[in-house]
Amino acid sequence: MQTAEIHRRWLDFFAKRGHTVVPSASLVSDDPSLLFTVAGMVPFVPYLTGLVPAPFPRATSVQKCIRTLDIDEVGKTPRHGTFFQMCGNFSFGDYFKEQAITFAWDLLTTSEDDGGLGFDPKDLWVTVYEEDDEARDIWRRVAGLTDERIQGLGKDTNYWSTGQPGPAGPCSEIFFDRGPAYGIDGGPATDDDRYVEIWNLVFMQYLRGEGTGKADFDILGDLPKKNIDTGMGLERVAFLKQGVENMYEIDQVRPVLDRAAQLAGKTYGAVHDDDVRLRVIADHVRSALMLMSDGVTPSNEGRGYILRRLMRRTVRAMRLLGVDHATFPELFTVSRDAMKAAYPEVEKDFPRISQLAYAEEETFLRTLVAGTGILDTAVSNTQRAGKKELAGDTAFLLHDTYGFPIDLTLEMAEEAGLSVDRHAFDSLMADQRSRAKADAKAKKTALADLSVYSSFRSLGETVFTGYTELETESSVLGLIVDGASVSKATEGQIAEIILGATALYAESGGQDADAGTIVGPGYELDVLDVQKPVKGLISHKVLVRSGEVGVGAPATSLVDHDYRRGARQAHSGTHIIHAALRQVLGSNAHQSGSYNKAGYLRLDFSWNQALSPETRTEIEEISNNAIRQNFEVTTREMPLAEAKALGAMALFGEKYGDTVRVVDIDGPWSRELCAGTHVTSSAEIGMINLVSEASVGSTNRRVESLVGLEAFRDLAVERTIVSQLSGSLKTPREQLPEKIADLMANLKAAEKRIAAFEARAVLDKVPALLESAARHGAVTVVAQDAGTLNSADDLRLLVTTVRERLGSDPAVVALAARAGDKPVVIVATNQAARDTGANAGALAKTAAGVLGGGGGGKADLAQGGGTDVDAIPAALNAVISGIGG
Ligand code: ALA
Repeated sequence: MQTAEIHRRWLDFFAKRGHTVVPSASLVSDDPSLLFTVAGMVPFVPYLTGLVPAPFPRATSVQKCIRTLDIDEVGKTPRHGTFFQMCGNFSFGDYFKEQAITFAWDLLTTSEDDGGLGFDPKDLWVTVYEEDDEARDIWRRVAGLTDERIQGLGKDTNYWSTGQPGPAGPCSEIFFDRGPAYGIDGGPATDDDRYVEIWNLVFMQYLRGEGTGKADFDILGDLPKKNIDTGMGLERVAFLKQGVENMYEIDQVRPVLDRAAQLAGKTYGAVHDDDVRLRVIADHVRSALMLMSDGVTPSNEGRGYILRRLMRRTVRAMRLLGVDHATFPELFTVSRDAMKAAYPEVEKDFPRISQLAYAEEETFLRTLVAGTGILDTAVSNTQRAGKKELAGDTAFLLHDTYGFPIDLTLEMAEEAGLSVDRHAFDSLMADQRSRAKADAKAKKTALADLSVYSSFRSLGETVFTGYTELETESSVLGLIVDGASVSKATEGQIAEIILGATALYAESGGQDADAGTIVGPGYELDVLDVQKPVKGLISHKVLVRSGEVGVGAPATSLVDHDYRRGARQAHSGTHIIHAALRQVLGSNAHQSGSYNKAGYLRLDFSWNQALSPETRTEIEEISNNAIRQNFEVTTREMPLAEAKALGAMALFGEKYGDTVRVVDIDGPWSRELCAGTHVTSSAEIGMINLVSEASVGSTNRRVESLVGLEAFRDLAVERTIVSQLSGSLKTPREQLPEKIADLMANLKAAEKRIAAFEARAVLDKVPALLESAARHGAVTVVAQDAGTLNSADDLRLLVTTVRERLGSDPAVVALAARAGDKPVVIVATNQAARDTGANAGALAKTAAGVLGGGGGGKADLAQGGGTDVDAIPAALNAVISGIGG
């Protein structure tokens, strides 16, 4: 049975049983505590916790998920995929245990001919939470399972939550027995390769608190309602139904594996290690494809880093299979074709996705070459020093600068017979992580503990009035100081304040927080920041400028008019530049990030080459022309599906069922989903001045622009600079570039002449130095103080020239000089002198020791320095003694 058919049967079965079919949400979760959607229930969390009333009593979905916790297991077990699809049925306070178990048993064991999945009951086992006698009893009654087939297990396996505070509950899992060929008897309690978990039924009725691990957390209390959350692994059922050995061999994945094997000239099934690599490739390519389809772009942090890691692991696996050229153009195309039936968007967006993927591979292949050079040097130095372990800081450098995953370094070191100092590496990584954490914490300290916000959020959403008002009267619902709810704040204190309604815009969608104040009877607050720590709740960070503010007090939020005008200009300006970019570069130039505040905006977009000056000017002109034409700017609210049908450019993170805001500038010229504040007609923006264009990472570019009055001011500054230059160079402004180029060329030529003069002056010393040559045993030695020179380079020139003039009989030249107040000594030997045992490195070191410093180099040429210029004669004597004779 094809994967798509299982998918279809699933939705059909539950739709017929009163469930609303909900399309998969994005892999990018909008829950701030999760990077990715890790389970089918994630989009439904607000309904499960009761924060938002569920729009339907029952729902079903096939949800795209990413989990990378077990990334090292990928390819080694039959069932660990970083991307997978979870089939789920959900009840929000509607049916509970008995009905959930009945549905699951029916769907699994109904014959294929009757629309079921056709599993034989004799192959199925279940587990229940050891204290859940109710579930055990239902299984006996509903499925007729014997007690032996119902195993009770502990909290670590049979109690489910996302790993974060939130909904949780005991669960019951259903397993398929693959038979004695795959492992020992004894049921799921004993072996998870033989007994494959296919479906997890969670009886979700509690709210869990903080804690680590799967079992170490407290139950904070009951959820408002008893819910059902289930998850059936689509890939697992597919591999069992398709009669293949594992999830990498199913119809949606296997084609990539085959293509990789073909590219590497390998036969799948021949060598175990190669098979694991092929499975890793097949898994990771698909995950990367799906992540990029949901708008994730490769980067060095957060989601982007996980994507990058998946792609780099793929390149590495191909390399270990013996392929060191680019293969993504082959592999991603095959994966697209395997996935497009279920996800048509991967085909539609493939030009954008493939551009990102190919550029990432090219970049990594290049750093791989550079990093391999570093690694090879480190390996040979380690071997030369007679050591067996590569230093941890080399591994860290490779990781940090060259993007080498540590396992790549481990494998490459191992190929050379070395291990890696993992302890040192891990501690460097830990340092780096704690630095990053401290940074993040410094930025967002106030948002550390979300539970205090959740309790305010449960009072209802903060009403945002700022689209139409710049001043709103409301009252204080809450105050937070140092993360804890308090009843008042007094002059000089910094606090966070929650109002029932506010006109102040909270930072979101790239737009920075409004500037403004909050005032009430007997107090004034300066607004420092405005954020949405949890969805629907606006929190203002304020300094109490005067008086005392308490919970319940009336409060008027006042937006700074000038700031807001600038912010509206900048945000609408961002949309205009985005539209202009796409008009000039095509629809592959996709916004990947943005930031705007009064007077300034920046926009990042996927593109992997610099924009030419002409392109930049063209984009600027289109943008300013859009301003000149005074386009109407309108905003409308509508369901997501309708907005998509209108072609609005979706951000990533909206969910089915959401109401979205569509901002049109001369729609459809620019049509984006956006919750920001905008001008009402484009002429209000005034002017756009693109001030820079640069790369951010390998596959993204960034344009920065000034907007409105700031744009004008910047140009005015430039005008002043140009007129000053024009005055002092006595050149009309059009001729300035040419004039400056001339001046530069003259300057270069003059510098060259000066250098030649200086070299000649230095070389003028050569005859006297040759005169001073004296024999010490078989060696001719010139050991002199050369006086004051510009640099050690001049001294080196002098030393090597004298050595050359001394001919091929054994000769050593040791010259000292003062360069920049410090003594320098350089020693050179010729081949014949070296044959007698003279070593410039050792001699320079001796001399430098006398000068109060250090030095060294090769046997033929070496340099040393020190601090004591008066010691120069003694240093030269030391060299002579060092030569012996
Ligand atoms: N949420 C449950 C799981 O992921 C069904 O296993």
